Amino acid sequence: MIAAKTRPRLHLVITGHVDHGKSTIIGRLLSETGCLPQGKLERIRAYCERNAKPFEYAFLLDALKDEQAQGITIESSRVHFMTAKRDYVIIDAPGHIEFLRNMVTGASQASAALLVIDAKEGMRENSRRHGYILSLLGIRRPAVLINKMDLIGYDEGEFRRVAKDCNSFLKRVGVHPDHVIPVCGLHGDNLAQTSTRMRWYRGPTVLSALDGFAPEASAADQPFRMPVQDVYKFTAEGDTRRIIVGTVESGSLSAGDEVVFSPSGKSSGVRALEDFPRPRRGRVGPGAAAAFTLADQVYVKRGELVSRRDEKSPRVGTRFEASLFWLGREPLKPAKDYVLKIGSARVAARLEKILQVVDASSLAARRGAKSVTCNEAADCLLRTSQAVAFDLTGENVAMGRFVLVDGFEISGGGVIRKALPDAVSWVREKVLRRNLKWQKSFIAQEMRAQRYRQKPALVLITGPRDSKRKEVAKALEAALFDAGRHVYYLGLGSALYGVAADIRDGDNHREDIRRFAEMAHIILDSGLILIVSAAELTQEDFSIIKTAIDEDRIETVWVGRKGVRQAVAAIQERLRARGFLTNRSQG
Ligand code: GTP
Ligand code: MG
Repeated sequence: MIAAKTRPRLHLVITGHVDHGKSTIIGRLLSETGCLPQGKLERIRAYCERNAKPFEYAFLLDALKDEQAQGITIESSRVHFMTAKRDYVIIDAPGHIEFLRNMVTGASQASAALLVIDAKEGMRENSRRHGYILSLLGIRRPAVLINKMDLIGYDEGEFRRVAKDCNSFLKRVGVHPDHVIPVCGLHGDNLAQTSTRMRWYRGPTVLSALDGFAPEASAADQPFRMPVQDVYKFTAEGDTRRIIVGTVESGSLSAGDEVVFSPSGKSSGVRALEDFPRPRRGRVGPGAAAAFTLADQVYVKRGELVSRRDEKSPRVGTRFEASLFWLGREPLKPAKDYVLKIGSARVAARLEKILQVVDASSLAARRGAKSVTCNEAADCLLRTSQAVAFDLTGENVAMGRFVLVDGFEISGGGVIRKALPDAVSWVREKVLRRNLKWQKSFIAQEMRAQRYRQKPALVLITGPRDSKRKEVAKALEAALFDAGRHVYYLGLGSALYGVAADIRDGDNHREDIRRFAEMAHIILDSGLILIVSAAELTQEDFSIIKTAIDEDRIETVWVGRKGVRQAVAAIQERLRARGFLTNRSQG
């Protein structure tokens, strides 16, 4: 187990038109590298004999997939094999158009690729689309396998014709294969062994081409990136440590490194890398599952991206320019909600603008399109509902890729080419800087929460000008205070006439709101429940407040003209339900 962890590993996607021989080639590779489970080959051969079917290496793969599929939820099938040099994970992307969907997610974890082409059929529609997607995902040096050489009599001239056709298409999309290898999946020619039937071919076998792929070392040389999959709490009394868990996408981390979480901008030092039950020595690198504890307690959650403070930070924002491939039955269009997944983050997203649409097979481009239909590629602007952390595709392969979900289905995928400013970029910059400079005290948030029996919250009470929002806010403060809670009421105006006096005379409402949000942030950090009344806040006001304060610490209440007592009771109930007020009987 330990040895397997430290061996280098390469993720490889195998692509190509339907029936061009992908499964056969994988089956052969598994068998010839001795990576099949014991007796598997014999069992399948016996099964084929009993059922008077010719044996197919492709069956082998299907049988393995069925076994592997149990208990793991993955969007496309993965097969593992190893050579003396390293471990491989092959992602089998089936050839049918309907299955193209799998390929976007399959390929989104891969850093190398094989493109399989039937020697007799040559380049087909999906060979081209797959080539296009590889280019889009930044896999620019696949190996091309011209398969079924037996069907063209192992002929060099025929091979050259298909190879040339393939190369000229790939060149147009910026893909430059390292090798074009004539193979026969059926008989195993040029897979693990050099074929004696094609002496005219002087290049490597598939296995040696694989071992020659630049390893994911490029990922090791990039800045550290680890999407947070989970945060576990220690259960022991008084132990406020948390374990941050995820898979390293690039770079490396070791104990003592300073880390930054994005988009929140919170930071801490790595106390220890964990490898239960013992702390782990050394560094963790790309592909490794990592778990670590922090030197001081910061509140972070799944979806954030961990980077190192001494390296280039990821970008944080809500708008970017992307190139994507669309596979949805419904076209991709503006004013519709999608979910964007990048790293471990999932956020609501919308198509803001289409720059151009490209037919992935003919490469014809079209401007002025109103939507992107199935099997089309597009350059477009996307906008997310909350800030996400990402890299540009040229900077970091894994963190520059995303998928788009329409309803419950993954319907598209692509890469981020350019970050664009949004309405609150100016606030975010200040918040990130504030978080980086923030001095942490010896009193962890959780210690305050235990002592005060509450979690800090901002209760924003808004309503029309003639509503009873101030009465409700004051009555709520009194009720919570009477119940022994640590609570403070602040009218928005009370804060601003003092703290923002320098800008009050001018007209800088946005800065007013930002300063208020920063004050609220400090008060919340001290463990209090802060109740604020404010007349109608605009969408932009909310965006500014949410940029400065964790959204899950904000409870927004809209007060109409109904009874104050009712409103207070309802808010208290809501605070209890959201876990802000904890039980007074304990301790
Ligand atoms: P999908 O998963 O359906 O996209 O197909 P695939 O690309 O995985 O192809 P698969 O390996 O299932 O092979 C398709 C057919 O081609 C099978 O009947 C194979 O036996 C046959 N085949 C694969 N490789 C060769 C080869 O080198 N020569 C010949 N003659 N047939 C082959
Ligand atoms: Mg197959």
